[in-house]
Amino acid sequence: MMFESLKDQIKNFQKIVFVTGAGISQESGIPTFRGKDGLWRNYDAMKLATIDAFYDNPRLVWEWYNERRSNIFSASPNDGHKAIAELEKFADVVVLTQNIDGLHQKAGSTNVLELHGSIVKIKCTVCDFHNEIMTEFSENPPLCKCGNILRPDVVWFGESLPQDVWEKAIIHANQSDLMIIAGTSLVVSPANTLPIYAKQNNAMLIEVNPEKTEMSSEMDVTIRNTSAKALPEFVSLFKTN
Ligand code: APR
Repeated sequence: MMFESLKDQIKNFQKIVFVTGAGISQESGIPTFRGKDGLWRNYDAMKLATIDAFYDNPRLVWEWYNERRSNIFSASPNDGHKAIAELEKFADVVVLTQNIDGLHQKAGSTNVLELHGSIVKIKCTVCDFHNEIMTEFSENPPLCKCGNILRPDVVWFGESLPQDVWEKAIIHANQSDLMIIAGTSLVVSPANTLPIYAKQNNAMLIEVNPEKTEMSSEMDVTIRNTSAKALPEFVSLFKTN
């Protein structure tokens, strides 16, 4: 049992906040960013996710997003996403995700905050227009009615998070009894400060990640396994209690 040591404590976990990243969708066939997965047609994914890279070559960045979007649309939630959704039967659950793939919602989670935007959203680089992508674009880069280039409505390096979403995320983190950090390398700010807000409330911190991360040493419990294996086992603790 990976979570044996928590058996007697689960009644204390009324508000459980998840912080998730690319790793939780890895078992749904969606590549992570860092490590060997973080390459697309020999481009470093990190170098494509900036506004400068976009203005440099909007067509290339749109090709990257179009490919990701079709991969995401054909993906299904895995047992990790499903376990988090099921946990709502037993506790107050909030998901703070850096992912743009919508798989938590697809699995049935009802309280998901998308910190980095969504693959289905677009906005104009100049005017206030924003919308959801309805059909594939016939032109690349797609243009807004105002004549300027449309861009994915996601957060790139150097950009701020949507402020209302971030403020809510901090409040949830601050109120948590338990924070489970699953499938994120915790190298990207400000999402990687969420565990600090949880600690201010004396929350327990659990990391689920097959690899060590920058913040592993700050965790109360580290589970070195994949999220699709570990999270169902965590939820089963609530079923037997
Ligand atoms: N289960 C759990 N964790 C996994 C799994 C798995 N099956 N497979 C990989 N991981 C872990 C890796 O060990 C790594 O620590 O998931 C983490 C993925 O890290 P990143 O690729 O850095 O993804 P993430 O933390 O989500 O990146 C943050 O960076 O590029 C930006 O905006 C993008 O939201 C993204 C942000």
